[in-house]
Amino acid sequence: MPVIAVRPAVSGEIEQILAIDPSAESRLTLIQSAVNHGECFVAEKNGVLLGYGVMNYGFFDRGFVPLIYVDTAHRRVGVATCLFDEFEVRCKTGRIFTSTNLSNLPMQAFLVSRRYVLSGVIQDLDEGDPEIFYSKRLR
Ligand SMILES: CC(C)(COP(=O)(O)OP(=O)(O)OC[C@H]1O[C@@H](n2cnc3c(N)ncnc32)[C@H](O)[C@@H]1OP(=O)(O)O)[C@@H](O)C(=O)NCCC(=O)NCCS
Repeated sequence: MPVIAVRPAVSGEIEQILAIDPSAESRLTLIQSAVNHGECFVAEKNGVLLGYGVMNYGFFDRGFVPLIYVDTAHRRVGVATCLFDEFEVRCKTGRIFTSTNLSNLPMQAFLVSRRYVLSGVIQDLDEGDPEIFYSKRLR
C-alpha cells in the first residue's frame, strides 16, 4: 500500500499548492522564497499533492513552522503528522516553534496531540484573534 511521502517542494509544484490552498495566493512570496531555499515540503501519495508546509529559522534563529496546510479532502489521515515528523527530524535547533490563531481549534488539537506546549500569546496581529505560539523540545 503506498505511503505518504514527504520531500522538498519544487517550483513547478507551486501551481498545485495554489490549487489546494485558497489562502496560498496571499502567502505566495513566502511560499516561493521557501521553495527556492528548500524550506517548503510537500506530502504526496500516488503523485497527488495532499498538503504542504514550511519550516525556516526566521523566528529568533529557532526552527519555526509558519505555514502548514492539508487538502480538505485528505484531513485526519496523518498528512500533517508526516510533515511535522519531517520538520522535527530536520530541525537543527533543540526546540521547534509554530503558531496559530486562537480560533484555530483543529491546529491546536493537532499540536497538543504531538505534545507541543504553550509558549506565548501575541495580541494585535489579527484583530480579536490572538496568535498562540507553541513549541516542543526535540533533544
Ligand atoms: C490542522 C491541520 C494542519 C491538521 O492536518 P491533518 O493532516 O488533518 O492532521 P493529522 O491527520 O496528522 O492529525 C493528527 C492528530 O491531530 C489531531 N487533530 C487533527 N485535526 C483535528 C481536528 N480537526 N480536530 C481534533 N483533533 C485534530 C488528532 O489528534 C489527530 O489524530 P486522529 O485523527 O488519529 O484523531 C489541517 O486541519 C489543516 O490543514 N487546517 C487548515 C490549515 C491550518 O489551519 N494550518 C495551521 C495554521 S498555519
